[in-house]
Amino acid sequence: MSTPLLGPPRGMRDFYPDDMALRNHIFRAWSEAAGRFGFEPYDACVVETLELLKRKGGEEIAEQIYTFKDKSDRDLALRAEMTPTLARMVAARQNTLAFPIKWTTTAQCFRYERMSRGRKREHYQWNLDIIGEDGVAAEAEILACALTALNQLGLGPDLAQVHVNSRALLAEMLLSLGIPQEHHAATFLALDKRGKIGDEEIRALLGAAGLNAEAIAAVFRMLAVQTLDEAAALLAQTSPAVARLRALFALLAAYGFGESLVFDIAVIRGLGYYTGIVFEAFDRARQFRALFGGGRYDNLLASVGGRPMTAVGLGFGDVVIGELLTETGKLPAPGADGLLAIGYMDQAQQAAALALAQACRKAGRPVDLALHADKPRAFFARVGTGRFQYAIYLGPDDIARGAVRVKRLTDRSEHELALADLCANPALLEQPPC
Ligand code: HAM
Repeated sequence: MSTPLLGPPRGMRDFYPDDMALRNHIFRAWSEAAGRFGFEPYDACVVETLELLKRKGGEEIAEQIYTFKDKSDRDLALRAEMTPTLARMVAARQNTLAFPIKWTTTAQCFRYERMSRGRKREHYQWNLDIIGEDGVAAEAEILACALTALNQLGLGPDLAQVHVNSRALLAEMLLSLGIPQEHHAATFLALDKRGKIGDEEIRALLGAAGLNAEAIAAVFRMLAVQTLDEAAALLAQTSPAVARLRALFALLAAYGFGESLVFDIAVIRGLGYYTGIVFEAFDRARQFRALFGGGRYDNLLASVGGRPMTAVGLGFGDVVIGELLTETGKLPAPGADGLLAIGYMDQAQQAAALALAQACRKAGRPVDLALHADKPRAFFARVGTGRFQYAIYLGPDDIARGAVRVKRLTDRSEHELALADLCANPALLEQPPC
């Protein structure tokens, strides 16, 4: 007998209804926050040309791309992130779009990664990007929007924080240590691996990037910096990167998110295209990998064939946040969507049950109407699993009396209403007459 093929391919995900409830809860927080901050939704194809995804070149992500050939021998790929696609779409209409633009999407992404906690081969990623605005107000709006979504999900500054740094600041510090710009990109990539590989391996990577022993020791001393003031003190003259970071911290405080932001020299980001401020959000206990990450990227539009234009954005994945919400018990409350179950004892009550269901549905109440007559025991066993908020069960006596008993399943309370009154005014379900 052949092995049954019941699971998805390794690292890919099925979403059963319980999983969908969590996914929808997360997606709702994302789209409500994006809407409240005035981001315009966009979407794009999941399949991209391999050339576009590789053009940024050399990064870890390029090795993780799922590639295939179509029947005409074209090299194609499943997108690993949305940013190159966004850059190509914007570059294609750069002459007609009114900049700055604020765009958002939730994109299914594929990366052939080594599987670990919070890391799958398929994930959904909420993206917020602002293109064509140089001022640090763009970083502030993006972070405030993402923090609004985190708060909506019940994760305030006591549970999650954004760690902020700047590649421009790191570049200024490296220059002040005598490390020329041509070594910076490789240095950033090596330093981003801290925590994932040992310091000895990092030293070897820095050596391979062209740094001598003295420079490597200086880089490690730089990473011991704890505060922005300490970083500023190490730079001889006034630093534009420090000024931008200070402006960002002041703006986020004005938004009311001051406690959600910390300076962290260790945030480098693995993607090569970032040029300025970079950030990653983590749970306070640091049990998980980053919840979201992003930063300013000034060269990507030009690298896909557009005019040079500044941009800033972030990607917020559904996997890590889902694990954190589960761990911290912040899952959506069962019955939160107000679902009403209606059942009946005999076929003779079906018409009344159906009329009640339709009256409630027309009034906007979600209703699950029984598909066949059932014994009360079987009906209440089915509806008591946490999915429903209310239940109404119609028997011959109820129809004869013209009354229904409404059970609120979340607290097991019960009240009685006239069937005709409830059909005429389904809001009585929640506000029974005193
Ligand atoms: P990223 O840091 O590669 O950035 O991914 C952003 C977020 O997506 C991560 O913080 C994580 O939550 C989630 N994520 C990434 N890979 C996986 C995976 N294998 N499994 C589960 N979750 C994952 C970017 O992708 C940038 N394009 C973000 C951006 C947008 N920068 C500017 N605009």
